[in-house]
Amino acid sequence: MARYLTGIQSSGIPHLGNILGAIEPAIQFSQKPGNESIFFIADYHSLTTIKSAEQRIHNVRSVAATWIAFGFDYHKNILFRQSDVKEVLELTWILSCFTPYPMLANAHSFKDKSDKLSDVNAGLFTYPVLMAADILLYDAEQVPVGKDQIQHIEIARDIASTFNNLYGQAVLTLPEPAVQNDAMTVPGTDGGKMSKSYGNFIDIYLDEKTLRKVIMSIKTDSTPLEEPKNTEGDTTFKLFSLVASPSDTANLADLYQKGDFGYGHAKQMLFEKILEKFGPARKRYADLMNTPEEIDAILTIGADKARAIAVPVLNRVKPLVGF
Ligand code: TRP
Repeated sequence: MARYLTGIQSSGIPHLGNILGAIEPAIQFSQKPGNESIFFIADYHSLTTIKSAEQRIHNVRSVAATWIAFGFDYHKNILFRQSDVKEVLELTWILSCFTPYPMLANAHSFKDKSDKLSDVNAGLFTYPVLMAADILLYDAEQVPVGKDQIQHIEIARDIASTFNNLYGQAVLTLPEPAVQNDAMTVPGTDGGKMSKSYGNFIDIYLDEKTLRKVIMSIKTDSTPLEEPKNTEGDTTFKLFSLVASPSDTANLADLYQKGDFGYGHAKQMLFEKILEKFGPARKRYADLMNTPEEIDAILTIGADKARAIAVPVLNRVKPLVGF
């Protein structure tokens, strides 16, 4: 049995791209009997950029509500808020004293921003140490991440082996990156990769009217209504194929081919499909966001389970360094 652990960024409300590309596959994976999946919402990390308390609290709840609404089994697995297990800060400090300065100076997350050093706070600089502590505190063996995070896992491995070598024993578990190569790309309304930072995302929790408006704004080519249309490269078609069954998708492909079928019709079909597919999750999400106590209670269940793993690990580390 392998222990999988991932930190989830909480810089905004999860959108359709996050849901189809990351959340649903991760939830499916976590259902496999042999695995244990630990997910936490990285709210300490978000402080490097987000300073508003309301925004942080809202984002954390929104991320948690999404995982719960999409069926994450928080009894079999663990879902918690990073800041609920304070032990991570203690381990971060200890590990930071075993982290060479050049290793952090070489991290892409820092280097990308180092042309404007006055904008770099110390938290952003030491971000990889907090991430190493996240991973090492839970004896994580596999860390599912995107390619951009591999370097951070390598840093965690380096810090762990430095520590282990110095104290002459396998105190910390060396993690492996579980890289998701075939992560699906979900196009945004402008046809580029759906991303919060490009402002082309579809928020499936919008009220129906606004959601329809966003879907109607999807970019298309200017093939006239009567003419047959290309499914290839068409954003509406691609999105439809990601949410609909293969037979519904084949049916839409026929309509494209026949002509006398406008993009507006296709978008209406996409809108209805999204409402149909995500209806139950939309309802559960809205209910949870209306009763934040319920979300917090679920996160507390996770925090208790997480702490039960974290405390013994920290207790292995501290005596070795004289605490
Ligand atoms: N840095 C990760 C990201 O940007 C989020 C994260 C924080 C994380 N701590 C982690 C991922 C620990 C995996 C393990 O996506």
